[in-house]
Amino acid sequence: MTDEYGERDDRAYDALAARHVSLRRALGLFKPHVGQLALMLVLILLSSLAGVAAPFLLRAIIDDALPAGDLRLLALLSCGLIALAGLGAVIGVVQVLVSSKVGQAVLHDLRVRVYAHLQSLSLGFFMTTRTGEVQSRIASDIGGLQALVSHTASELTRNLSVVVMTMIAMLVLEWRLALFSFLVVPLAVWISHRVGLLREELTHEQQSRVADMSSMVQETLSISGIILARTMGRAAHLNRRFVATSQGVAALDVRAHTAGQWQWSVIDLVLQALPALTLLLGGLLMGPDATAVTIGTLVAMIALQEQLLWPLEEVLDAGVKIRTTRALLARIFEYLDRPVEIRERPDAVTLDRETIRGAVKLETVSFGYAPSRPPTIDGVSIDIPAGSHVALVGATGSGKTTLGYLLARLYDVDSGSVTYDGVDVRDLSFQSLTDMLGVVTQDPYLFNASVADNLRFAKPDASEDELITAAKIARIHDTVAALPEGYDTVVGERGHRFSGGEKQRLSLARTILRNPRVLLLDEATSALDTATERALSRALGELAKDRTTITIAHRLSTVRHADQIIVLDGGRVVERGTHEELLAIDGIYAELTRSTL
Ligand SMILES: Nc1ncnc2c1ncn2[C@@H]1O[C@H](COP(=O)(O)OP(=O)(O)O)[C@@H](O)[C@H]1O
Ligand SMILES: [Mg+2]
Repeated sequence: MTDEYGERDDRAYDALAARHVSLRRALGLFKPHVGQLALMLVLILLSSLAGVAAPFLLRAIIDDALPAGDLRLLALLSCGLIALAGLGAVIGVVQVLVSSKVGQAVLHDLRVRVYAHLQSLSLGFFMTTRTGEVQSRIASDIGGLQALVSHTASELTRNLSVVVMTMIAMLVLEWRLALFSFLVVPLAVWISHRVGLLREELTHEQQSRVADMSSMVQETLSISGIILARTMGRAAHLNRRFVATSQGVAALDVRAHTAGQWQWSVIDLVLQALPALTLLLGGLLMGPDATAVTIGTLVAMIALQEQLLWPLEEVLDAGVKIRTTRALLARIFEYLDRPVEIRERPDAVTLDRETIRGAVKLETVSFGYAPSRPPTIDGVSIDIPAGSHVALVGATGSGKTTLGYLLARLYDVDSGSVTYDGVDVRDLSFQSLTDMLGVVTQDPYLFNASVADNLRFAKPDASEDELITAAKIARIHDTVAALPEGYDTVVGERGHRFSGGEKQRLSLARTILRNPRVLLLDEATSALDTATERALSRALGELAKDRTTITIAHRLSTVRHADQIIVLDGGRVVERGTHEELLAIDGIYAELTRSTL
């Protein structure tokens, strides 16, 4: 997009321009704070008015008070100058206060919006997005906006108003000299525009490199990442890769800060030369009689010029900064614009928790992760009466976990339907669905918090006794109670402090705590030894007495007593029946039982 020397390629820029956030949308972020913004505008106008009044007092001092030796007038005018400066200072403080408050409020709103929006996105988004990337956009990109919203925006308004008022004052003072001074403006604007485009592109690149770096750290400096790197002897390789990424970030940052520096110096030079040129022209205009242009006018003009130049430079610089932030906004809105695929319907059905029965029915359900590939679930129909026990079995990759995702509405079916008590999941309120269905996933996830906190994630108001009861059913209470800190033991990142089987049982206890009518266990006991699994099965059997249980099983011994065993193969139901019936057919199930014995 930009080459080694910071030269720009206009065609590449078009791609960026397509991602631009409209001004209206960007300004929309400030909408809830119009009141405070209006207050700021008034303050800004007042302070710039005070600023331009000063040179006029100065002219009166030089041209009237001093030559006439009028000390009273001199004192009065001097006091006026001091008062104006004081007013400017007070307004400045208030303005910074208000603008920081508004700025932080805008950032806060944006962060919360992005977080809430990402929460509601489908699993598909997270499967294809790096965690570090998400973190980087919430922290680094929104953080990068900070300077703009809390500082640059108000500075820009202030400087802009100073520029306009000063220009008017200059015209009033002496129009020919004023017009001459204005000649530099278009040149400066054009140069800064070019610099702005360059910086914007660099910022885009920079932010995506920062995101690369943060996802690399996230992935490799996690417990699983470290274990993998150590056991594969790849730590040195990872270090080298990190060095390269970090170098890229550093080099880009240098370029971003120095890009367009010489263009900027040209502007500086022109601006610095302006007073000298003005004095020269003023001397010529004065002529022999010195009537049109007095010395006081010349001094006031130079003072106004000084007052114009600095804010003008700031305005141009703000223009550059705004372009940079446009790059950040584009990245943030890209997330906010991600469509939410799985929504709760406005007229969603809420089932009464007390009367939920827990009948589950799948009717010719089909689903695929990618439209271009054959479906992962292909025309599956299963009728699960309330209170019955169904087992899903099949080779790995046959679609069992995917079917579980559809039951939990983590994805929506492509065709067919999933119903609970006769209500389509797509019509069910999120609350009813989670009341109905408890899921223990294949790969249990625990937050890095205490055991009790992890369990209470399922039921925040659960009492100590409830926790212990659930843990006892899941056969994990004795293990936890034997720890020095018991239920206050911190489980570590992703629960690494516990073994696979312990994690599975904790995750089971967590779901039991919710007391759902339908229990979906996806290879939930696969990491347990046979004795523990058998004990757990008995406990679950008791628990399952008045609830529907769907077990996805790895070890067939645990599903022998299921009311219905469904055998999946390539996303299709190939056999169904009880253990005895399936053995009698002597098909895939019979084959599987023989091979896992
Ligand atoms: N997010 C995904 N994107 C694309 N394909 C997937 C995804 N998740 C699973 N699959 C594929 O879908 C098939 C079924 O997977 P899964 O339901 O996990 O099988 P099982 O649980 O029976 O072992 C597999 O071939 C797997 O590769
Ligand atoms: Mg699976």
